[in-house]
Amino acid sequence: MITVLRIGHRLGRDSRITTHCGLVSRAFGASKIILSGDYDKKIVDSLCGVREQWGGDFEVEYDKQFMKIIKNFKKDGGIVVHLTMYGMNLPDKIGDIRKDGKDKDVLVIVGSQKVPGEVYQLSDYNVAVGNTPHSEISALAIFLDRFFEGRQIEKKMKKGKISIIPQEKGKKTVEE
Ligand SMILES: C[S@@+](CC[C@H](N)C(=O)[O-])C[C@H]1O[C@@H](n2cnc3c(N)ncnc32)[C@H](O)[C@@H]1O
Repeated sequence: MITVLRIGHRLGRDSRITTHCGLVSRAFGASKIILSGDYDKKIVDSLCGVREQWGGDFEVEYDKQFMKIIKNFKKDGGIVVHLTMYGMNLPDKIGDIRKDGKDKDVLVIVGSQKVPGEVYQLSDYNVAVGNTPHSEISALAIFLDRFFEGRQIEKKMKKGKISIIPQEKGKKTVEE
């Protein structure tokens, strides 16, 4: 099981990016996102709304104390992966992470502003999706896609109210 921890959310400034971290987490196979930083009810509501409408067993939580989450996750035997451009490049580490993740829960941390040094120290893996800056949304999407080896986009979401019937052209949905 993969949990995403989004740290350092700033009201207003990060709204769209944090929402998209949640959308990517759900769509690409994570089971849960924990939002930290400023509390933003709109984001929690919007992600829960997407789950209601489109399905999936995806949990959304808020917790201000992100260091406690990381420490407890490790104490419970999970592994912690921090996505940062300063880390070891993903292709060199994904095999080990996938192996560890077979029988352990994985916490994937994405930052916004400067990430505290302690997060680098506590993480089992500091991993870069290429050693150059881009975005937490893209880093998360690529990490999840590599972790699940592309299988998550072949799965149908369960318990949704609507689903899409794929079309060569145009749009078709059905109410479940
Ligand atoms: C605006 S960036 C800040 C860049 C930051 N100085 C860093 O350590 O990667 C916000 C977040 O995007 C993610 N990110 C950006 N570029 C990345 C990369 N090349 N590899 C992995 N994660 C990246 C990290 O989680 C980072 O905390």
